[in-house]
Amino acid sequence: MQTFRWGILGLGSIARKFVADLAHVPGAVLHVVASRDLAKARAFAADFGAAHAVGSYEALTAVPDLDVVYIATPHSEHHAHALLCLRAGLAVLCEKPFTVNAGQAQELITVSQAQGVFLMEAFWTRFFPAVAHALALLKSSTIGEVKHLVADFGGFMPYEPLGRLFNPNLAGGSLLDIGVYPLFLSQLFLGRPTAVAAVAVPAGTGVDLSCAVSLAYAGGATASLASTLAAPLDNQCVLYGTGGQLRLLGPMYAPHGVRVQPLGQAAQDFSYPPPGDGYHYEAAHVQECLAQRLHESPLLPLSSSLELMRLLDTVRQRMGLRYPGEGGG
Ligand SMILES: NC(=O)c1ccc[n+]([C@@H]2O[C@H](COP(=O)([O-])OP(=O)(O)OC[C@H]3O[C@@H](n4cnc5c(N)ncnc54)[C@H](OP(=O)(O)O)[C@@H]3O)[C@@H](O)[C@H]2O)c1
Repeated sequence: MQTFRWGILGLGSIARKFVADLAHVPGAVLHVVASRDLAKARAFAADFGAAHAVGSYEALTAVPDLDVVYIATPHSEHHAHALLCLRAGLAVLCEKPFTVNAGQAQELITVSQAQGVFLMEAFWTRFFPAVAHALALLKSSTIGEVKHLVADFGGFMPYEPLGRLFNPNLAGGSLLDIGVYPLFLSQLFLGRPTAVAAVAVPAGTGVDLSCAVSLAYAGGATASLASTLAAPLDNQCVLYGTGGQLRLLGPMYAPHGVRVQPLGQAAQDFSYPPPGDGYHYEAAHVQECLAQRLHESPLLPLSSSLELMRLLDTVRQRMGLRYPGEGGG
């Protein structure tokens, strides 16, 4: 079996979950873990059995025999950390949101193409079997023509002005952290909207505490999306068609099934429980791409990550939210 040696850059909460799920990926080897703090890296390496632990992200790029790096730092750092790895010739799987804005995303894509190295956004939702099944059901017109999509993601998060969820310097706010999921699903299922409206309620730091987005499409569909750090929502995704309804079961960011209900018929559930949290689906897909020497994923191409960043930029423009360094006040 072909093995793939993974490096992990930034050892926070998502890094722990991702690495735990690597155990479900045949051929995945945890090769090196990198933190800004060497003691933290050593403790993480001991917990998960990594061969190497390093005390800086730069040092990770010098470790031999590394096949791919998973970037798990705050949104504001994705651009710099992905560039660091791409310029060192290393394949990159970068957490969502891909970057802070579309300009940064375009630069990553340009560098990955110039270097001829693999790059993918870690939008794990794309790789759940339930999402593939939902796409197939829509393609076969099981619920007719989709006319409306509802998706939301919310949780109550304690207000910590310096923490990554609320800190403008770390590109905080509900939209980039969790609102990106409803937007991602709207793009996957309905394509590019022709009209975008958005409003936000700011947190004390000025980033969006809550955000509501309305979209319209040339094909006659609309979408209602919401995200908030202020209250738990249903975390659902439902598509309403001329001939019935389709619902992702479980949280829409990690769905474990699909419920389809054609008009006048009983609902039918299809279940796909993951063995762990479900991060292994995206990791296995990256390994398949690397085995085929691809530079991007056919399921989550860079053009769709760029388009999603453009949509996020438009929504932020409508809300009047800019991050430090983006200009315009
Ligand atoms: N796909 C998903 O399900 C999912 C879930 C949660 C989060 N995420 C994404 O993953 C990224 C990280 O989220 P997280 O919840 O893991 O965050 P976290 O717990 O705060 O960890 C982020 C890590 O990034 C590193 N880091 C580098 N520069 C930093 C800075 N200036 N400030 C703070 N930390 C810095 C730190 O690692 P060292 O101290 O080791 O250097 C830190 O532990 C975010 O972009 C988020 O959107 C994805």
